Amino acid sequence: MRSGELRVFVNEKPVSVTRGATVRDAVEVFDRELAGLLVSGAAHATDGVGRPVDASDPVGEGGAIFRVVVTARQGPPRLSKDLLRRWPKAELHVHLDGCLRPQTMLDLARSQGIRLPADTPEALARALSVQGSRSLEEYLAKYEITLSVMQTAQALERIAYEFVVDAAAENVRYVEVRYSPALHRPALTLTEAVEAPLRGLGRAAAETGTKTGLVVCGIRTLPPSVSLELARVAVDYKDAGVVGFDLAGAERGHPAREHRAAFEYAARHGLGCTCHAGEGDGPDSIHQALHDCGAQRIGHGTRLGEDAGLLEAVVERKIPLEMCLISNLHTRTVASLAEHPFKRYLERGVRVTLNTDSRLMDGVSLTDEYFHAHAGLGLGKEALAGVVLNACESAFLPEYEKVALVARVQSELEAL
Ligand code: HPA
Ligand code: ZN
Repeated sequence: MRSGELRVFVNEKPVSVTRGATVRDAVEVFDRELAGLLVSGAAHATDGVGRPVDASDPVGEGGAIFRVVVTARQGPPRLSKDLLRRWPKAELHVHLDGCLRPQTMLDLARSQGIRLPADTPEALARALSVQGSRSLEEYLAKYEITLSVMQTAQALERIAYEFVVDAAAENVRYVEVRYSPALHRPALTLTEAVEAPLRGLGRAAAETGTKTGLVVCGIRTLPPSVSLELARVAVDYKDAGVVGFDLAGAERGHPAREHRAAFEYAARHGLGCTCHAGEGDGPDSIHQALHDCGAQRIGHGTRLGEDAGLLEAVVERKIPLEMCLISNLHTRTVASLAEHPFKRYLERGVRVTLNTDSRLMDGVSLTDEYFHAHAGLGLGKEALAGVVLNACESAFLPEYEKVALVARVQSELEAL
């Protein structure tokens, strides 16, 4: 094999492609006619673990496995990633410390004299990938690496700016991004750690037209007094771009109710409240988030269905779930995409939304999440458009701004 070439497998046969080739290129080497069917939608491809892939996806690593089958299925043609990228979208659940560009990490590490596990963008993305994690705790360990280069105001500002530019490039019209200012001490004070990303978000919003909001996270494994301190600083910046308060971190054994004072403070002063729950632990954790902490939205909520009464209450109260399909696979919250309850909850009337959680570590874009909901879970165009609007309607925005966002996105969706 020549250098710069990769060997991947299509329907169990090895084929050589150049680095950076797409799935379509690999299938074309295997069988030109089959590639034509793939592009026209008459054949579909999956990866080595059975997840749907788009013809335009990169093949990624040497040794990657693809299966392509011709479908006799009649029905509407599959939505391509290209089309879903053009859809206007909104995202409510994404971690700033999970969304760095690999090249930016390398630049920051070089200028700050920090050693990273790899020295090319591709190798770094591989080293930070959470594919193959065995639990939420193992998944969260990767954040220590990204956080290591995020301990200056300039770094935080640049990362926030670039994140919004990247989200805008896939037509995200509104995004709430979250992080915990406490994880930037002692290098920065809490106010410095809030002002820096706000500067980046403001600059990117002005340039791209994408609306942004910052969500401050308490951390379950830190003392509740730190969560209260964080809620206070979040409230101080309420009119300067902070829109909400969240609780993140290892879930099992670290109950949300211990952080109730922070939620109370945030809610009393008009911030939106959300809480990661039902991801690393069961429905009782969701119950605590809603009933002890007064969360208005739930981060993930994947295990909600284990408690029928709670599911009913979530439907009745129109509590939005910020769901993240691929992240749930990586944390082993679900065993496979096919088993993910997203579609079940949607059909049951839950206000579900789609989110990335972490673009870098999970290796997904918001477009990818919509593609997986479509190609993996079978959601059609109408249902997916409803999910986009669910996200807009669940934004932590004043009512009049929310109405404007919903109207804008709805008319863009109709014009497609
Ligand atoms: N769950 C809890 N805390 C987190 C996560 C998550 O998925 N990602 C980053 N912090
Ligand atoms: Zn999260």
